[in-house]
Amino acid sequence: MSLLIQNISNLYTPATDLKYGQLRTMHKVHVFVQDGIIQRIFAEDEALPEADTVIDAQGKTLLPGFIDAHTHPVFWKTREDEFIMRVQGKSYEEIAQAGGGIRSSVRRFREAKKEEIKALTRKRIKTFLEFGVTTIEAKSGYGLSTADEIKALEIINELNDEQPLDMIPTFLGAHEIPDEFQQDRRGYIDLIKNEMLPLIAERKLARYCDVFCEQGVFTVDESREILLEAKKYGLDARIHADELSPFGGAEMAAEIKACTADHLVEISDQGINDMAAAGVIPVLLPGTTFFLGKDDYAPARKMLTAGCEVALSTDFNPGSSATQNLQLIWTIAALKLKMLPKEILWAVTLTAARSLQLETKIGSIEEGKQADLLLLDIPNLNYLAYHYGINHTVITVKKGEIVFRNA
Ligand code: NIG
Ligand code: FE
Repeated sequence: MSLLIQNISNLYTPATDLKYGQLRTMHKVHVFVQDGIIQRIFAEDEALPEADTVIDAQGKTLLPGFIDAHTHPVFWKTREDEFIMRVQGKSYEEIAQAGGGIRSSVRRFREAKKEEIKALTRKRIKTFLEFGVTTIEAKSGYGLSTADEIKALEIINELNDEQPLDMIPTFLGAHEIPDEFQQDRRGYIDLIKNEMLPLIAERKLARYCDVFCEQGVFTVDESREILLEAKKYGLDARIHADELSPFGGAEMAAEIKACTADHLVEISDQGINDMAAAGVIPVLLPGTTFFLGKDDYAPARKMLTAGCEVALSTDFNPGSSATQNLQLIWTIAALKLKMLPKEILWAVTLTAARSLQLETKIGSIEEGKQADLLLLDIPNLNYLAYHYGINHTVITVKKGEIVFRNA
């Protein structure tokens, strides 16, 4: 199977031999794909090969398919009631302490049948593809019992085989202490270590392990203990850290050489320096700060100055960030994190790929890489954040196949 995308007005991509924030820019080129791999980028006047499928991209812009490196897409009921409570002045933490938040999603998740949740997740996957996302990291974390965490991870793994979006599964059993362990947090941590992790590893249901390390959830010591135990089973570490208070999660992520530390709104200067030195990738989620109605955003410029390679994600989940639109996150990152389009493009493609250890395969438009591509109806890269809140996608290509086409 071959695909030719002709007359691309603008092609922007990071590349393996460039530095973060540097882009390769091409005009009036043609991209030829065979068997899911980018074979060649042709100049305007070169003779072109025949192809099974030809797309005319006149006036359009081609980018690498977006990679969303932090999502929670496997949930049952939505929580718009909590959104209105926040509009009326209640905080995310107050709602969680009153029994809402993650634990309410857990109660509902446990009641639902696997097939029902799977059907909803399948719909959400379609939306990601529509917005130009070709790979996501997908967390469990609304089951919080052995059977229900496995239910979530099975859904991710089964849907991975059924449809084109690639999902990298992350075990987030340490998302909260479930109701039945509120008086016995040690018991829950032991359950994760002694029962969930061995089973999940044996069945190869997850690639990463994540912990919500935060005041009132898991302490730094508990988080370290869980993540180090997971590493013994080959699950690399990601961590929700320093979102609501400067708690030391970033420093610990650097100490244990986690792949990423995510959120980091309240990260300390020490945490920034430690992460830069250890090469831990900050995954920033400005849509969450926006959706929680807060004014202080993660110090992205400080991280970039310190030498961190910043990734950006939606944090798609039913509580703190109900969006799947990375193009909207692009605008929020520009306005609130003061990131430039050339940095944001890295943050949602090659750096996001690096955070998933997939940078040799995806994240840039280079000959020999997998053909995960996004054709947008924008005249230049600056326009993407500027004309905001809409979907600019014309065509999404995954492994050389058209998986979404905007009518
Ligand atoms: O990344 N912080 C923890 N987890 C999610 C929120 C999940 C929820 O509220 O359901 C987050 O923001
Ligand atoms: Fe999250």
